[in-house]
Order: sequence, then structure tokens, then C-alpha cells
Amino acid sequence: MATDTKPAVHPRAATVMADLFGGALEDPFPAYNELRELGDGVHWSEQLQAYLVCRYDDVRFLGSDHRRFSSDVFYDSAPSWHDNTNPEHLRFVDTASLLFMFSDPPTHTRIRSSFRHVFTPRSIAQWETTIRKVTEDLISRYSRGREFDIMPGFAADVPVAIIASILGVPDEARAKFREWSYGFASTFDPVVQGDMRDTAIAASLELFEYLRSLIDERSVAPKDDLISELIRTETVSGDRLQDIELVAQLALLLVAGNETTTSLIGSGLTYLLEHPTTLAEVRADPDMLPVAIEEILRLDPPLHLALRKTTEETRFGNTVVPAGAILAPCLAAANRDPRRFDAPNEFDIHRSDNKHLAFYNGIHFCVGAPLGRLEVRVVLRYILDNFPELRLGSAPAQRRTNNAVARGWASRPVVL
Ligand code: HEM
Repeated sequence: MATDTKPAVHPRAATVMADLFGGALEDPFPAYNELRELGDGVHWSEQLQAYLVCRYDDVRFLGSDHRRFSSDVFYDSAPSWHDNTNPEHLRFVDTASLLFMFSDPPTHTRIRSSFRHVFTPRSIAQWETTIRKVTEDLISRYSRGREFDIMPGFAADVPVAIIASILGVPDEARAKFREWSYGFASTFDPVVQGDMRDTAIAASLELFEYLRSLIDERSVAPKDDLISELIRTETVSGDRLQDIELVAQLALLLVAGNETTTSLIGSGLTYLLEHPTTLAEVRADPDMLPVAIEEILRLDPPLHLALRKTTEETRFGNTVVPAGAILAPCLAAANRDPRRFDAPNEFDIHRSDNKHLAFYNGIHFCVGAPLGRLEVRVVLRYILDNFPELRLGSAPAQRRTNNAVARGWASRPVVL
């Protein structure tokens, strides 16, 4: 923060945010709805050490102007990373700080351009068969009529297995790969501190080593997989990514693509099973499934917050945010802004205009959006087609409450 004075905060907003970010709220949406309508919808949060931005137009504006709102927030997002003198942590930071998600142009433009051919809707269509096969294998562990928790038991395994297959990770390394990628993902979770953080960082370093060994192998003997393609792709600057840069971006695909897609599988099943008329419609007309998925992305986006840093003083109504402050645009609050969507809290797959911000907008718009959408469509279609008796289980479902950014379902019992 570039200022020594504490930012003013609406007293009611402070109370709501203390519950929201303190882990006391199972359902965060009433809190977002309230925060969006209080004052200017922009509130300093002690818990996040950031200004929470809740209104659709403001959130969209932040995403669309990367000069005023920088993504160079790696060190701000977990301050302990750069204070640390532990050599393992420093080695971790050497690689993790290269993630292009936390960079601005020209670095961002150069690195992101390596993905310009691999995540197009046309090129990902070839992975549909892989996704169906992974789904079939993972769901075959469960028998019909038995209740089980689909989040840890299935939804969490699908994206890792798919990205491992797409990257070209050999079958025998898959289990380790899954463990390391969970470790790496948890380094971004602010509640993971102390010994837990050391363990997560050790797992991440093993993941980096492993990815580097795959890069070495594919550099000598390319295969028909994503790693080989990324090694040979030139950036828009006419060079190729250095090995350490490539390791970081491959690891980023894991951390950005796993929990998000897992969440969307969970909320997809939840919304459809809780709305039998819509479910019947989606079963009857396959074209309605992608439309329903977009509505679920609007109502219950897997990532609730993004992060940006102001490069100059910015005014939102009467709220002035100084230069150098961290902003947390709240995608989940923006997606239910009544200024932008009619009846915003209703699940309505027939709304004519659904420009939600679940993948955000601007230059950091999710690079994996076509893959995430395809995965969830294929998985849900497979489950709906093969399990006509599918229903919600009797045990209560639970949302994650210990993470401000990702608040999908921690558990969602179903009966196949
Ligand atoms: C339904 C699933 C997904 C959702 C809701 C989602 C959401 C998002 C959001 C909101 C951002 C923007 C972050 C920001 O601007 O700060 C983002 C960026 C990103 N996502 Fe996704 N994502 C999903 C799936 C995936 C998948 C499957 C992959 C890759 C395998 C992926 C890779 C990335 C990457 C690399 C970025 C950084 C892009 C950049 O900074 O230019 N995502 N995602």
C-alpha cells in the first residue's frame, strides 16, 4: 500500500467481510449481494489486505485496462514467499514467479502467445475422446444405487487425469503427478502455512523437476503431445520459451485448470439435480447442456476473486483507491449484479444475454476456457446418459469455506 492511513470501511461491510473471509459462511452469495449494494460496492478488506470490488461494470473495467490495473501481484498474493530465507522456498519462487498469469505486457504477451495454437476450440476438439475415456474409467469405480461423495471420489480426479494425458505424462507417473499438482495448487492457498507450506513447496519442486525431465526427453525425441508442441512453438517475439519458463507455464496449467474444472463439475451436477425441469430439458436436447453450463458459470463461478494492483489513483464513485493498492475484483458478485442481469439469483438457462465474467475478460481471459468447457460438457453428458437414475445423496453437501478465492463444493454426495 502506498498510504500509511488505514482506508475507511463501511461498518456493516467490515462485519460481512469478517464472516465471509473468516470461514464462517457456508453460502457466500447473500454476503456478495449485500456488499455489492453497500456504498459504492468497493470495500477495503482487512482479511484480504485488498479492496473488494463487487459491481459488474467496475469488475469488467478492471479486467479490460491492464495498464491501470497490473497483474504483477505474485509477491502480493502471498507475502511470506519473498521474506523467506529457506533455500527450498527461494528455489520455488525462482520458477513460480514466472507464471504468466502474474505478469503484464510485454512479458505476458510473449509467453501467452505460445498457447495461441493449442487451446483453440478446434484443436481441443481432438481431446474429446480422451475426456470421455478418462470419465468412463474414473466413474466405473462406483456401482449403481450406492451413495458416494462425487467431489473427492471423481470430480477432483478428472481434470488432473485429462491434463496429464494431454501433456503426455506416462501412465506410470500419473499417481505421483496428481499428488505433486495438489501440492503445487495448495501453495496458492493462504491458509497453507508452516509445515504444510514446506511440504507443498517440496512437492512443487518435485513437480518442477519432473516437468523439466519431460521437457528434456521431448526436446530430443518429440511426441504427439502438448509438451512437444510447446517446445517447438515460437512466441510472437520470434523466440522459444526457455526451459524454466516452460516448466512454470506447464505447472500453471495444472494449478489454473484443476480445481476450477472440478468445481464446475460439482456445481453443474448440483444445479441440474436441484432443478428437475431443467434437467429433463437438458437430457432431451443435447444442445441445451452447453447453455446450462454457461448459466452455472454465471451463478456459481469456480473462481470468486481475481487480483490486480493499481498503477495510479482510481475513483469508484466516492471511494478513492490509491496507486499501488491491491484490488480483488469479485467475479461471483459481479455475475449477480442486478444492474446487468435480470433476476440475477435465478437459475434460468433461457436468458438471452449471459455475458458472465467466470473466465474474466481482457488480456488475461482464461486461456483454458475452451478446454474447461469441453471437459465439463463431456463429463456431464456421459453421466446423464449413462445414469438415468442419478440423484442427490442423503448426506449434506458442503462448500469450501477456508479459501476466499475458490469456494466450490468440498463434498457433494450423489447416488448413481
Ligand atoms: C471451468 C474452468 C475454469 C475457470 C472458471 C477458469 C477461470 C479463470 C479465470 C477467472 C482466469 C483469469 C484470472 C485473472 O485474470 O486474474 C483464468 C486464467 C487462466 N486460466 Fe482458467 N479457468 C478454468 C479452466 C482452466 C483450464 C482447464 C486451464 C488449462 C488447462 C486454465 C488455464 C488458465 C491460465 C493459464 C490462465 C492465465 C491466463 C492469463 O493470465 O493470461 N483454466 N482462468
